[in-house]
Amino acid sequence: MIVVRRVDELRAVIRAARVRGERIAFVPTMGALHDGHLALMQRARKDGECVVVSLFVNPAQFTEAVDLDGYPRDEARDVRLLESVGVHVLFAPAVDEVYPGGFATTVEVAELSVPLEGVARGPQHFRGVATVVTKLLNMVQPDAAFFGQKDAQQALIIQRLVRDLDLPVRIEICPTVREADGLAMSSRNALLDSAARQKAVTLWKALSAVEHAVARGETHTAIALAAGSILLKAEGIEPEYFAAVDAATLLPVTSFTGTTLIAIAARVGGVRLIDNVLIHREGAA
Ligand code: PAF
Repeated sequence: MIVVRRVDELRAVIRAARVRGERIAFVPTMGALHDGHLALMQRARKDGECVVVSLFVNPAQFTEAVDLDGYPRDEARDVRLLESVGVHVLFAPAVDEVYPGGFATTVEVAELSVPLEGVARGPQHFRGVATVVTKLLNMVQPDAAFFGQKDAQQALIIQRLVRDLDLPVRIEICPTVREADGLAMSSRNALLDSAARQKAVTLWKALSAVEHAVARGETHTAIALAAGSILLKAEGIEPEYFAAVDAATLLPVTSFTGTTLIAIAARVGGVRLIDNVLIHREGAA
């Protein structure tokens, strides 16, 4: 695996891959890699002879300095994992390579950035994500880029910005990878102590309770969400949000029609976790 830290080096490596006729498949990350990331890379390998991964803890998308400072970082471990799944190029720039002095341009996806995580983390969060993803896509210029469904709102925002700005890249959203008990894999799971780790699975149980309610024929989102809320309450978890929204617009919905996103965010043992499921009720009125 080639490790590059500057954009001009990255471009030279990618130019050489293009000359060899290789397709470029790209997975942006903030490091602290887990099996969910590795699944994205394995998926990327199917679509590109040259798999590029970026490792950049993007300060612009953190609302709280303490969150940025506490974000798990271990580049040597990440490099070993990337090599184990056959990644070809790691782009690991310093902050001033991405945001040089005088940096003044941002990308903002209106409306989709406002609810859910937008409320909880403030408008700068998705502005930071949209700006860095636009920059990374311009730096790498891949044929396809791969993101996880766990960050459902982020995935939607990236699909929208790529469409709106005519970026010539295919965006693939890959399923959430879960631990054996159902907890969604996340870099933040490493910060959970053992009591919090046990409790954290309740987010998945609450989402599953909504799915089961729908499978039993429940059509009202409030009643289905209540089934999940009981489980959260029993564990003393007060979610920041536990909501049923239209999967395309993120607007709240009162009944299950078409595709509904059930999204949850909660602090467990001081660690902020998010998760979601998509519920399809085709043909429902
Ligand atoms: O999902 C992430 O890890 C980050 O938000 C991303 C897409 C790499 C942008 O910094």
